[in-house]
Amino acid sequence: MFRKVTLSALAALAVSAGAATAAGGEGHTHDVDFSFEGPFGAYDEMQLQRGLQIYTEVCSACHGLRYVPIRTLHDEGGPALPEDQVRAYASQNFEVFDEELDDFRPATPNDHFPMSNLENAPDLSLMAKARAGFHGPYGLGINQFFQGIGGPEYIVSLLTGYTGETREQAGVTFYENTAFPGGWIAMAPPLVGEDVEFADGHSNELHHEAEDVAAFLMWTAEPKMMARKQTGFVAVVFLVILASLLYLTNKRLWAPHKGKKKTA
Ligand code: HEC
Repeated sequence: MFRKVTLSALAALAVSAGAATAAGGEGHTHDVDFSFEGPFGAYDEMQLQRGLQIYTEVCSACHGLRYVPIRTLHDEGGPALPEDQVRAYASQNFEVFDEELDDFRPATPNDHFPMSNLENAPDLSLMAKARAGFHGPYGLGINQFFQGIGGPEYIVSLLTGYTGETREQAGVTFYENTAFPGGWIAMAPPLVGEDVEFADGHSNELHHEAEDVAAFLMWTAEPKMMARKQTGFVAVVFLVILASLLYLTNKRLWAPHKGKKKTA
């Protein structure tokens, strides 16, 4: 009986998984191994710095990061740039409108990154969490468990998913993309490889650039991921110790009574 129930439950799960993947319109996301996955994963400082460079030199022409304070580039566990570099970065790259001065001035670390320059380009601050990437048995998170977070993988797949086909519709050019839901996106391929030069000579092949900028966007969306994982780990250790102590105390408390029963 139990076996039958388990088998039919498994069959139902398989059917619903199949149905979910077969449902049309979803783009294809491929798995990427990021350093920040898993219970002990951590952001790779150098990768975040490269991603910041790509965002600054390429993506920021259209996309904003309005929810990200520039000073957090200095944060431990993030890109961890020295404070003077953060100050120089802010003032060299961005201008903000200052209401008190009633004029534009160079940005400081206390400002946020600017908003999108291009009206139909979405803000990227939270994009890595807004996109699921992997789909499949809905609500179970099974694909995330086995394959990774989903959002950053989606961004890599999107940036490397252009087929080269274009089509025009109502005066707008759309580019065929295997990751974008629906298959046609209004963003021209922003990266083609060798778009930036890294100071440390790191590879600037297309898929490396895509992974670096996706890692950076995961950090903007979840800058405290490492602190959260650490807290989780400490909590688990604490609960294990507490549970063992309770177990031992319990045994101790009941030991005399259990002993009596035997002798009686
Ligand atoms: C020339 C302007 C331009 C540049 C440069 C640009 N984008 Fe875009 N991007 C757009 C537009 C426009 C859209 C909206 C496309 C649509 O919805 O069809 C978009 C959409 C996106 C999306 C959202 C896709 C979705 O699922 O809705 C992501 C992610 C993205 N861009 C990432 C990037 C990254 C990363 C870079 C830098 C490597 C970049 N973009 C550079 C114009 C740009």
